[in-house]
Amino acid sequence: MTDTTGRGERPPRVLLLYYSYTGQSLRVLEAAGEVFRERGCEVSRAEIEFTDQRYAEKFSRFPMRRVWPDMLSVLPAQKRGATGEVRTPDTVRNGDYDLICIGSPTWWQTVSMPLRSFLMSDEARKLLFGKPFAVFVVCRQFWRENLEAVRELAGQQGGRYVDEIHFTYPGDPIRSMLSLTSYLGSGEYRQKYLGLRIPPTNVQSEQLEQTRTFAARLADRLFGKG
Ligand SMILES: Cc1cc2nc3c(=O)[nH]c(=O)nc-3n(C[C@H](O)[C@H](O)[C@H](O)COP(=O)(O)O)c2cc1C
Repeated sequence: MTDTTGRGERPPRVLLLYYSYTGQSLRVLEAAGEVFRERGCEVSRAEIEFTDQRYAEKFSRFPMRRVWPDMLSVLPAQKRGATGEVRTPDTVRNGDYDLICIGSPTWWQTVSMPLRSFLMSDEARKLLFGKPFAVFVVCRQFWRENLEAVRELAGQQGGRYVDEIHFTYPGDPIRSMLSLTSYLGSGEYRQKYLGLRIPPTNVQSEQLEQTRTFAARLADRLFGKG
């Protein structure tokens, strides 16, 4: 493998950094992580935990107890771009990474409060300063504002944006929303909700395949052809 990062003999180090309530961002990052591992990279994970007493309880269980009230509970804070308390693992502080992959689910059209809170922290500056980062957005529909916010926040911490990939879920706006809320409230994939046929929701297998192709290209570009 050609060394283009000035790291000497050691293998490239990749961090998968994410907040993930139902595990979709994690599935996407893990698909990318497998590709990086196959190419000899050391891949670590850093899950951001949402610990803020004002909001965290509703996101501490799945499925949601009451979908709409639970989702709406963070709407005003999301619209203000508010931050809250989060907890991070040691992998955020202990590594010197050659690439940081940021998994970002959309909450109310933008980056979720837990990820925003981390990205605005001093810890994020230590992690990201001078480092390449790629953004992986997952959402039902609204990816752009989320992507731009992550890009801007990580850039403000000195990170160097390299690429992005984003995924939205099948179906028209109404049906995809019904399908997602049905899933969030039941934890099950159902065929119908409120009497209407609904499309599949969440990240689909072909999207994981696209993630693998994306990761392979990114590895070629940053670490040399594998
Ligand atoms: C509180 C909340 C708000 C959401 N708001 C939006 C939204 O405004 N637009 C959208 O496209 N998806 C929205 N979603 C859907 C999430 O982006 C989707 O469920 C995603 O799979 C979450 O990824 P995760 O499992 O990694 O947390 C919202 C989900 C939650 C829980």
